[in-house]
Amino acid sequence: MPMTTSSPAPAATTNIDSMLKEKRVFKPTAKFSKEARIGTLKKYKKMHRASLRNPDKFWGKLAEDLSWFKPWKKVCVWKPPFAEWFVGGKLNASYNCLDRHLTGPLRNKAAIIWEGEPGEVVTLTYLQLHREVCLLANVLKKHGVKSGDRVMIYLPMIPEAVTAMLACARIGAPHSVVFSGFSAEALKERTNDCGAKIIITSDGGYRRGSALAVKANVDKALDGCPKVKSVLVVQRTKMETPMTPGRDFWLHEEAQTVNAVCEPAVLDSEHPLFILYTSGSTGKPKGILHTTAGYLLGCHTTTKYYFDLRPEDVYFCTADVGWITGHSYVAYGVLSNGGTSLIYEGAPNFPEPDRFWRLIDKHKVNIFYTAPTAIRSFIKWGDDWLAPHDLSSLRLLGSVGEPINPEAWIWFYEKIGGKRCPIVDTWWQTETGAHMIAPMPGATPMKPGSATLPFFGVDAAVVDDRGREVGPNVGGKLVIKRPWPSMLRSIYGDATRYRKTYWSEIPGVYFAGDGARRDKDGYFWIQGRIDDVLNVAGHRLGTSEVESALASHPDIAEAAVVGRPDEMKGQAVVAFVTLKNGVTASPALKESIRAHVGKEIGPIAKPDDVRFAEGLPKTRSGKIMRRLLKEVAASPNGIIHGDTTTLEDLNVLAKLKETGE
Ligand code: PRX
Repeated sequence: MPMTTSSPAPAATTNIDSMLKEKRVFKPTAKFSKEARIGTLKKYKKMHRASLRNPDKFWGKLAEDLSWFKPWKKVCVWKPPFAEWFVGGKLNASYNCLDRHLTGPLRNKAAIIWEGEPGEVVTLTYLQLHREVCLLANVLKKHGVKSGDRVMIYLPMIPEAVTAMLACARIGAPHSVVFSGFSAEALKERTNDCGAKIIITSDGGYRRGSALAVKANVDKALDGCPKVKSVLVVQRTKMETPMTPGRDFWLHEEAQTVNAVCEPAVLDSEHPLFILYTSGSTGKPKGILHTTAGYLLGCHTTTKYYFDLRPEDVYFCTADVGWITGHSYVAYGVLSNGGTSLIYEGAPNFPEPDRFWRLIDKHKVNIFYTAPTAIRSFIKWGDDWLAPHDLSSLRLLGSVGEPINPEAWIWFYEKIGGKRCPIVDTWWQTETGAHMIAPMPGATPMKPGSATLPFFGVDAAVVDDRGREVGPNVGGKLVIKRPWPSMLRSIYGDATRYRKTYWSEIPGVYFAGDGARRDKDGYFWIQGRIDDVLNVAGHRLGTSEVESALASHPDIAEAAVVGRPDEMKGQAVVAFVTLKNGVTASPALKESIRAHVGKEIGPIAKPDDVRFAEGLPKTRSGKIMRRLLKEVAASPNGIIHGDTTTLEDLNVLAKLKETGE
């Protein structure tokens, strides 16, 4: 039922263009709208207008949904580009996610339903989770952790990952979760950057039918982390795990030595809640700093309105806790709302490609939040895997991580959602803490591929290079024009980089790093990263991060990394490398290079393609011309259209094209 049309976007900024010609519009069903918290576009628009007209009043009202030990004096103090929210207020995130639910009917309700990859199920009620959190918090205290101390969490998707985050929040120790698929090197770098003295990890975890060692990576990392004094180890697989006496402790043994009484620390609104590292356009990952009240309010409110979460729902988010999605929408947002979070440990295709459908059917999942790259895998695996499973419990679907291509959207809508579930396509970032642009499920007509309209308080725009707002369907830079509660507060230890990265591209506004256009209905169509950041299977990778890993390979003289469009992963990583004198290119060397990057960063960063080159195309000033490399990567034997007038040596380009397989 097409209501509007949108045409390809003329570009206001070089390299930003859109070829998308999606015209379909899908309205939420009457039933969904009737039952939803926000059931009409009119109501959404009214609330959005109010949120921009008087943000302090608006957020002050919404913040009453949280539990405060002491009320705030001022909603927002904005000294650009530094914001403080709910100044003077005192609260605790773990209290908001646990204690406040213990006095009423939620007390014995499931907070977490966890299914291990081998199939065991563990349910933790709010009361039980509270106890586990208090025990772990007391173990942390026993090991000398105090308010403000950073705690590393390097765990697979087991309940303890959530317990650990909340235990840290309880005592005011900011956590820094590192995705357990990241390498020892990555863990080392992050641990040292935030100066943590303690790491919580596990012996191993299950993935695709095998028990994979996790603590072994911690041991490797700790060779280079002199500040770390203790390692707390969760016993998950019971695999053989060497323990260093005096440094390593089994968590279940330590928990026997403490009691389960731990009062939540009374913390300032701006007390740091966590640091989460993410890739940027330089080699060094950025420690994104989030603080307590604003972040929690962002997660809480978006979960409530965008997922329309109800206490009786079973909510399943497939993201790992190592990413921001796992922080905001596996843990904090769901639990602060008293929801039930289904957590699954393993691979989506173990033992068969229908594992998610099995989980949805078995646990009667109502809300399912996943990524376009996963949806494209489901499509590839085939609809036969759906047939045996009853998915009728689902009432809302969500998508995150990259623009969802209309084909994947329609499949998700029809095959998984049975044409009755709205798809909440959520645009946001590690830095934004919570959803920023997405359809309100009972109100906003959906257009496949568009994240649609901004959340309350989000003043988003598409601008040209000089910061002027562009007209309908013109591509430009996506910016946010004023602070919002869950925004990052800084880059840990580097306020200068914070200012430079986010607030100086276009002075006075937050630049998200994404290109976008708005159609004539005001809908946002995100076009992806326009900085040197790749989006591989919904995960951010800095090209220079991969380049520094490559440069540390003993045979490599120079390397450049670019993205290539990839049907499944959105983008694939292509590395162009020049070898040191005397080294010969070979398939074995390719493999060794890929393995090296896996070791330095983690398997997700392994280049899909390694191209050997005699030289890299550079401008006269010596800058590698990525734009040209991108073209070469995308069309191995194709023609290069880009401007080559500043190229130092055109022969290099000709040779690069020859290396295409
Ligand atoms: O390019 C956008 C893309 O993911 C980037 C943020 O990555 P990260 O901080 O790792 O957080 C991922 C989970 C929030 C953005 O700059 N992105 C995320 N969601 C969408 C998206 N692009 C288009 N549509 C989305 N729904």
